[in-house]
Amino acid sequence: MALPAAVKIVEVGPRDGLQNEKDFVPTATKIELVNRLSAAGFPNVETTSFVSPKWVPQMADAADVMAGIERRPGTLYSVLTPNLRGLEGALAARADEIVIFGAASEAFSQKNINCSIAESIERFRPVTEAAKQQGLRIRGSLSCALGCPYQGDVPVSAVVDVVERFASIGCDEIDIADTIGVGTPKRTREVYEAVTRVFPRERLSGHFHDTYGQALANIYAALLEGITIFHASVAGLGGCPYAKGATGNVATEDVLYLMNGLGIDTGVDLNQVVAAGDFISTALGRQNASRAGKALLAKSRNEAACA
Ligand code: HMG
Ligand code: MG
Repeated sequence: MALPAAVKIVEVGPRDGLQNEKDFVPTATKIELVNRLSAAGFPNVETTSFVSPKWVPQMADAADVMAGIERRPGTLYSVLTPNLRGLEGALAARADEIVIFGAASEAFSQKNINCSIAESIERFRPVTEAAKQQGLRIRGSLSCALGCPYQGDVPVSAVVDVVERFASIGCDEIDIADTIGVGTPKRTREVYEAVTRVFPRERLSGHFHDTYGQALANIYAALLEGITIFHASVAGLGGCPYAKGATGNVATEDVLYLMNGLGIDTGVDLNQVVAAGDFISTALGRQNASRAGKALLAKSRNEAACA
């Protein structure tokens, strides 16, 4: 398939990126990160999670983060909602989009949300019904679509099955997530070839973690399958607390550099994202994991020193 003229990049750093941080990240830092990302022009920022603070303590300040951010017209602010309690939080916080999150692997479903795949769909059904009534957009995130940390291989048929169930409960958009970054381009194409038979291609996304260094190649493979929505995390932050060893999502700066090079419009200012990546890496006291981010920072510091 020909490459698209434009893609939508969903910035997931404030949620997927930060949820795994051991030390509590101050709420003000989270708010500043979201504001910087909004200002860079993202159409969608996954901002926080209304989940149990016993399960993910880092997201315990979800309501305060949502109350503190500046809303940029043109940016949707998404939040994770595993159950009705989460939806109540999302509604009170005026989220634009909720994200229900399930898995293509039974083992991961149990570890992440403490129920089977079938139970999760029954738990999500009242959430999506109520969200629809309130006019919220609904995204379904499907973990372990390319492999599971507990089960290993995940059949393509299992991915198709959950995509169909997500569609039946009203998901507007569905994320094919490689939670532990084990996928390769061949498998990526096989999965999209199969799921696009049951759900519209233009409403499927790619959520690739970069554990094995395959994320950019998988994004390119997905582009060739006609996928036009991709998730990325500024400075490559993150991982999932229930997927040990998994690294962050592919770094946003690297994805933007790729898209710019391909002449694909994202509407996002790479330089502002590089600055946001530097801000959060410094705030967390960790190495920036974005190759493009580090290279562009070094280049601009070099130019400043020579000026
Ligand atoms: P549970 O323990 O089975 O449920 O957890 P529960 O109903 O017995 O609740 C346990 C406690 O949490 C109770 O408190 C509830 O009130 C409270 P207690 O009575 O013991 O004091 N609680 C809540 N508090 C705040 N907000 C809520 C909420 N719900 C319950 N919404 C549950 C089930 C789903 C709640 C739990 O397993 C959970 O919160 N899991 C979230 C796990 C998570 O956030 N994982 C990371 C996000 S997914 C991800 O990263 C993958 C993704 O990036 C895609 C990919 O890469 O694969 C999206
Ligand atoms: Mg993830």
